[in-house]
Amino acid sequence: MDLTTNYLGLTLKNPVVPSASPLSKHLDTAKRLEDAGASALVMYSLFEEEVRYDDDMLDEYFFHQDIGHLEASSYRPQPDDHPSAIDNYIEQLHRLKESLEIPIVASLNGVTPGGWTEHAQELQVAGADALELNIYHVSAEVTETGEMVEQRYIDVLKAVKKKITIPVVVKLSPHFSSVANMVHRLEQAGVTVIEARISHLAYAPEIANAMLRRQQASAIIAARKQIVRGAVGMVHLALDELDENDIVDLDEERKAAMVSNLLVVLCGEEATTPVVNAGTLYT
Ligand SMILES: Cc1cc2nc3c(=O)[nH]c(=O)nc-3n(C[C@H](O)[C@H](O)[C@H](O)COP(=O)(O)O)c2cc1C
Repeated sequence: MDLTTNYLGLTLKNPVVPSASPLSKHLDTAKRLEDAGASALVMYSLFEEEVRYDDDMLDEYFFHQDIGHLEASSYRPQPDDHPSAIDNYIEQLHRLKESLEIPIVASLNGVTPGGWTEHAQELQVAGADALELNIYHVSAEVTETGEMVEQRYIDVLKAVKKKITIPVVVKLSPHFSSVANMVHRLEQAGVTVIEARISHLAYAPEIANAMLRRQQASAIIAARKQIVRGAVGMVHLALDELDENDIVDLDEERKAAMVSNLLVVLCGEEATTPVVNAGTLYT
Protein backbone atom coordinates (compact mmCIF):
# COMPACT_ATOMS: atom_id res chain seq x y z
CA MET A 1 0.00 0.00 0.00
CA ASP A 2 1.33 3.43 -0.86
CA LEU A 3 1.49 5.53 2.31
CA THR A 4 3.48 8.37 0.76
CA THR A 5 2.57 11.70 2.26
CA ASN A 6 3.65 15.29 2.21
CA TYR A 7 4.75 16.93 5.42
CA LEU A 8 6.58 20.24 5.64
CA GLY A 9 7.08 20.23 1.89
CA LEU A 10 8.96 16.95 2.23
CA THR A 11 7.74 13.78 0.58
CA LEU A 12 7.69 11.12 3.27
CA LYS A 13 7.27 7.42 2.61
CA ASN A 14 4.62 7.20 5.36
CA PRO A 15 3.11 9.50 8.00
CA VAL A 16 4.96 7.97 10.97
CA VAL A 17 7.34 10.55 12.43
CA PRO A 18 8.69 9.91 15.95
CA SER A 19 8.35 13.14 17.93
CA ALA A 20 11.07 14.81 19.98
CA SER A 21 12.57 12.52 22.60
CA PRO A 22 15.92 11.27 23.88
CA LEU A 23 15.77 8.47 21.28
CA SER A 24 17.48 10.90 18.88
CA LYS A 25 20.35 11.46 21.32
CA HIS A 26 21.95 8.16 20.36
CA LEU A 27 22.75 6.95 16.87
CA ASP A 28 21.78 3.36 17.58
CA THR A 29 18.24 4.22 18.77
CA ALA A 30 17.78 6.73 15.94
CA LYS A 31 18.90 4.07 13.45
CA ARG A 32 16.48 1.56 14.97
CA LEU A 33 13.62 4.04 14.48
CA GLU A 34 14.59 4.43 10.84
CA ASP A 35 14.90 0.66 10.39
CA ALA A 36 11.47 0.23 11.99
CA GLY A 37 9.97 2.47 9.31
CA ALA A 38 10.07 6.04 10.64
CA SER A 39 9.85 8.39 7.66
CA ALA A 40 11.49 11.37 9.41
CA LEU A 41 12.82 12.07 12.87
CA VAL A 42 12.32 15.02 15.21
CA MET A 43 15.36 15.60 17.42
CA TYR A 44 15.21 16.18 21.16
CA SER A 45 14.91 19.91 21.94
CA LEU A 46 17.67 22.40 22.46
CA PHE A 47 16.42 24.43 25.45
CA GLU A 48 16.65 28.21 25.61
CA GLU A 49 17.81 28.11 29.23
CA GLU A 50 20.61 25.68 28.34
CA VAL A 51 21.83 28.07 25.67
CA ARG A 52 21.53 31.10 27.97
CA TYR A 53 23.25 29.30 30.84
CA ASP A 54 26.09 28.33 28.52
CA ASP A 55 26.44 31.90 27.27
CA ASP A 56 26.57 33.20 30.85
CA MET A 57 29.17 30.61 31.84
CA LEU A 58 31.29 31.43 28.81
CA ASP A 59 31.09 35.12 29.67
CA GLU A 60 32.03 34.48 33.26
CA TYR A 61 34.89 32.07 32.65
CA PHE A 62 36.38 33.33 29.43
CA PHE A 63 35.65 37.01 29.03
CA HIS A 64 35.07 38.57 32.46
CA GLN A 65 38.45 37.30 33.56
CA ASP A 66 40.30 39.18 30.90
CA ILE A 67 42.38 41.71 32.83
CA GLY A 68 44.14 42.99 29.74
CA HIS A 69 47.43 41.37 30.71
CA LEU A 70 48.82 39.45 27.75
CA GLU A 71 50.79 36.87 29.67
CA ALA A 72 47.94 36.26 32.13
CA SER A 73 45.51 35.97 29.20
CA SER A 74 47.46 33.05 27.79
CA TYR A 75 46.52 31.05 30.89
CA ARG A 76 42.83 31.70 30.45
CA PRO A 77 40.73 28.74 29.21
CA GLN A 78 39.87 28.99 25.54
CA PRO A 79 36.20 28.90 24.46
CA ASP A 80 37.06 26.44 21.66
CA ASP A 81 38.07 23.80 24.22
CA HIS A 82 34.60 23.86 25.78
CA PRO A 83 31.79 22.88 23.43
CA SER A 84 28.54 24.63 24.30
CA ALA A 85 25.02 23.14 24.28
CA ILE A 86 24.53 24.42 20.73
CA ASP A 87 27.89 22.93 19.58
CA ASN A 88 26.89 19.55 20.98
CA TYR A 89 23.43 19.77 19.44
CA ILE A 90 24.84 20.66 16.01
CA GLU A 91 27.34 17.84 16.24
CA GLN A 92 24.53 15.37 16.95
CA LEU A 93 22.54 16.82 14.05
CA HIS A 94 25.57 16.24 11.76
CA ARG A 95 25.92 12.68 13.02
CA LEU A 96 22.22 11.95 12.42
CA LYS A 97 22.33 13.47 8.95
CA GLU A 98 25.39 11.40 8.06
CA SER A 99 24.05 8.10 9.38
CA LEU A 100 20.35 8.28 8.51
CA GLU A 101 18.63 8.75 5.21
CA ILE A 102 15.35 10.12 6.52
CA PRO A 103 14.84 13.90 7.00
CA ILE A 104 15.82 15.28 10.39
CA VAL A 105 13.74 17.98 12.08
CA ALA A 106 15.66 20.01 14.70
CA SER A 107 13.75 21.25 17.75
CA LEU A 108 14.09 24.47 19.74
CA ASN A 109 12.37 24.96 23.09
CA GLY A 110 12.08 28.49 24.38
CA VAL A 111 9.65 31.19 25.44
CA THR A 112 11.33 34.47 24.58
CA PRO A 113 12.46 35.94 21.29
CA GLY A 114 16.09 36.99 21.50
CA GLY A 115 19.72 36.10 20.98
CA TRP A 116 19.22 32.37 21.40
CA THR A 117 16.88 32.27 18.38
CA GLU A 118 19.93 33.09 16.22
CA HIS A 119 20.81 29.44 16.63
CA ALA A 120 17.97 28.52 14.28
CA GLN A 121 20.23 29.67 11.46
CA GLU A 122 23.07 27.44 12.62
CA LEU A 123 20.68 24.49 12.68
CA GLN A 124 19.63 25.21 9.12
CA VAL A 125 23.28 25.49 8.00
CA ALA A 126 24.04 22.23 9.82
CA GLY A 127 21.52 20.49 7.58
CA ALA A 128 18.21 20.41 9.48
CA ASP A 129 15.42 19.69 7.00
CA ALA A 130 12.90 21.61 9.12
CA LEU A 131 12.66 23.18 12.55
CA GLU A 132 10.13 22.46 15.25
CA LEU A 133 9.43 25.13 17.86
CA ASN A 134 8.33 23.77 21.16
CA ILE A 135 7.05 26.89 22.92
CA TYR A 136 5.45 26.11 26.26
CA HIS A 137 4.95 29.03 28.57
CA VAL A 138 3.00 28.94 31.81
CA SER A 139 2.98 32.49 33.08
CA ALA A 140 3.52 33.19 36.77
CA GLU A 141 3.53 36.97 36.29
CA VAL A 142 0.33 38.60 37.60
CA THR A 143 0.56 41.38 35.04
CA GLU A 144 0.98 39.04 32.04
CA THR A 145 -2.34 38.49 30.27
CA GLY A 146 -3.36 35.55 28.08
CA GLU A 147 -3.05 37.84 25.08
CA MET A 148 0.57 38.62 26.04
CA VAL A 149 1.37 34.92 26.40
CA GLU A 150 -0.06 34.30 22.92
CA GLN A 151 2.00 37.19 21.59
CA ARG A 152 5.15 35.51 22.95
CA TYR A 153 4.47 32.52 20.71
CA ILE A 154 4.10 34.80 17.71
CA ASP A 155 7.21 36.82 18.62
CA VAL A 156 9.38 33.72 19.06
CA LEU A 157 8.10 32.37 15.75
CA LYS A 158 8.77 35.67 13.96
CA ALA A 159 12.29 35.94 15.43
CA VAL A 160 13.06 32.43 14.19
CA LYS A 161 11.42 32.90 10.79
CA LYS A 162 13.58 35.96 10.17
CA LYS A 163 16.65 33.75 10.36
CA ILE A 164 15.72 30.69 8.33
CA THR A 165 14.12 29.52 5.13
CA ILE A 166 13.47 25.86 6.04
CA PRO A 167 9.89 24.98 7.07
CA VAL A 168 8.89 25.68 10.66
CA VAL A 169 6.49 23.60 12.76
CA VAL A 170 5.02 24.92 15.99
CA LYS A 171 4.20 22.41 18.68
CA LEU A 172 1.25 23.81 20.58
CA SER A 173 0.29 23.15 24.14
CA PRO A 174 -3.37 22.21 24.63
CA HIS A 175 -4.03 25.19 26.92
CA PHE A 176 -5.31 27.84 24.52
CA SER A 177 -8.84 29.16 24.99
CA SER A 178 -9.16 29.84 21.28
CA VAL A 179 -7.00 27.35 19.44
CA ALA A 180 -8.42 28.28 16.03
CA ASN A 181 -7.48 31.92 16.50
CA MET A 182 -4.00 30.97 17.69
CA VAL A 183 -3.45 28.68 14.74
CA HIS A 184 -4.64 31.42 12.37
CA ARG A 185 -2.20 33.95 13.87
CA LEU A 186 0.70 31.50 13.78
CA GLU A 187 -0.07 30.75 10.15
CA GLN A 188 -0.05 34.44 9.36
CA ALA A 189 3.32 34.74 11.11
CA GLY A 190 4.74 32.14 8.73
CA VAL A 191 4.43 28.73 10.30
CA THR A 192 4.19 25.82 7.86
CA VAL A 193 2.58 23.20 10.07
CA ILE A 194 1.08 23.22 13.54
CA GLU A 195 1.28 20.19 15.76
CA ALA A 196 -1.33 20.32 18.46
CA ARG A 197 -0.68 17.02 20.09
CA ILE A 198 1.58 17.83 22.97
CA SER A 199 0.01 16.62 26.16
CA HIS A 200 1.97 17.21 29.31
CA LEU A 201 0.44 14.09 30.84
CA ALA A 202 2.46 12.17 28.28
CA TYR A 203 5.73 13.58 29.54
CA ALA A 204 8.20 11.23 31.10
CA PRO A 205 8.72 12.01 34.81
CA GLU A 206 12.15 13.57 34.22
CA ILE A 207 10.72 16.01 31.65
CA ALA A 208 7.68 16.79 33.79
CA ASN A 209 9.97 17.40 36.78
CA ALA A 210 12.28 19.69 34.85
CA MET A 211 9.34 21.69 33.50
CA LEU A 212 7.71 21.88 36.91
CA ARG A 213 10.96 23.11 38.49
CA ARG A 214 11.26 25.76 35.81
CA GLN A 215 7.69 26.90 36.39
CA GLN A 216 8.15 26.92 40.16
CA ALA A 217 11.35 28.95 39.84
CA SER A 218 9.59 31.49 37.61
CA ALA A 219 6.67 31.66 40.04
CA ILE A 220 8.99 32.26 43.01
CA ILE A 221 10.95 34.95 41.17
CA ALA A 222 7.73 36.65 40.02
CA ALA A 223 6.31 36.57 43.56
CA ARG A 224 9.57 37.92 45.05
CA LYS A 225 9.67 40.71 42.48
CA GLN A 226 6.13 41.65 43.44
CA ILE A 227 6.95 41.63 47.16
CA VAL A 228 10.08 43.73 46.69
CA ARG A 229 8.23 46.20 44.43
CA GLY A 230 5.48 46.55 47.05
CA ALA A 231 7.99 46.91 49.90
CA VAL A 232 9.99 49.58 48.09
CA GLY A 233 6.73 51.46 47.45
CA MET A 234 5.84 51.31 51.15
CA VAL A 235 9.30 52.51 52.21
CA HIS A 236 9.02 55.38 49.76
CA LEU A 237 5.63 56.28 51.16
CA ALA A 238 6.90 56.12 54.75
CA LEU A 239 9.87 58.39 54.02
CA ASP A 240 7.72 60.88 52.07
CA GLU A 241 5.08 61.07 54.76
CA LEU A 242 7.61 61.49 57.58
CA ASP A 243 9.24 64.25 55.62
CA GLU A 244 6.07 66.02 54.45
CA ASN A 245 4.54 66.07 57.92
CA ASP A 246 7.80 67.15 59.57
CA ILE A 247 7.59 64.19 61.92
CA VAL A 248 11.28 63.50 62.07
CA ASP A 249 14.34 64.85 60.29
CA LEU A 250 16.52 61.93 59.26
CA ASP A 251 20.05 62.30 57.92
CA GLU A 252 21.12 60.03 55.01
CA GLU A 253 22.67 57.41 57.27
CA ARG A 254 19.55 57.13 59.47
CA LYS A 255 17.40 57.01 56.35
CA ALA A 256 19.52 54.14 55.01
CA ALA A 257 19.17 52.30 58.35
CA MET A 258 15.41 52.79 58.31
CA VAL A 259 15.11 51.63 54.69
CA SER A 260 17.16 48.55 55.46
CA ASN A 261 15.09 47.73 58.58
CA LEU A 262 11.80 48.26 56.78
CA LEU A 263 12.87 46.07 53.85
CA VAL A 264 13.91 43.27 56.20
CA VAL A 265 10.52 43.47 57.94
CA LEU A 266 8.48 43.76 54.73
CA CYS A 267 10.35 41.24 52.58
CA GLY A 268 11.34 38.72 55.27
CA GLU A 269 9.94 35.19 55.06
CA GLU A 270 9.39 35.08 58.83
CA ALA A 271 7.67 37.55 61.15
CA THR A 272 10.32 39.78 62.73
CA THR A 273 10.50 40.60 66.43
CA PRO A 274 10.71 44.37 66.94
CA VAL A 275 13.24 45.86 69.34
CA VAL A 276 12.07 49.17 70.72
CA ASN A 277 14.81 51.77 70.95
CA ALA A 278 14.07 53.78 74.07
CA GLY A 279 17.29 55.81 74.05
CA THR A 280 18.72 58.32 71.59
CA LEU A 281 19.27 57.31 68.00
CA TYR A 282 22.84 58.60 68.11
CA THR A 283 24.46 56.49 70.85
C1 LIG B 1 11.03 11.03 27.51
C2 LIG B 1 10.42 12.11 26.68
C3 LIG B 1 11.21 13.17 26.28
C4 LIG B 1 10.67 14.20 25.50
N1 LIG B 1 11.47 15.21 25.10
C5 LIG B 1 10.92 16.20 24.33
C6 LIG B 1 11.74 17.27 23.86
O1 LIG B 1 12.95 17.35 24.09
N2 LIG B 1 11.14 18.23 23.11
C7 LIG B 1 9.79 18.19 22.80
O2 LIG B 1 9.31 19.06 22.07
N3 LIG B 1 9.00 17.20 23.24
C8 LIG B 1 9.54 16.21 24.00
N4 LIG B 1 8.73 15.20 24.43
C9 LIG B 1 7.30 15.19 24.07
C10 LIG B 1 7.03 14.27 22.90
O3 LIG B 1 7.77 14.67 21.75
C11 LIG B 1 5.53 14.24 22.54
O4 LIG B 1 5.11 15.49 22.10
C12 LIG B 1 4.70 13.83 23.72
O5 LIG B 1 5.17 12.59 24.21
C13 LIG B 1 3.21 13.72 23.36
O6 LIG B 1 3.03 12.92 22.24
P1 LIG B 1 2.19 11.57 22.31
O7 LIG B 1 0.88 11.95 22.93
O8 LIG B 1 2.09 11.14 20.87
O9 LIG B 1 3.00 10.64 23.15
C14 LIG B 1 9.27 14.16 25.18
C15 LIG B 1 8.49 13.09 25.61
C16 LIG B 1 9.04 12.08 26.34
C17 LIG B 1 8.15 10.94 26.78
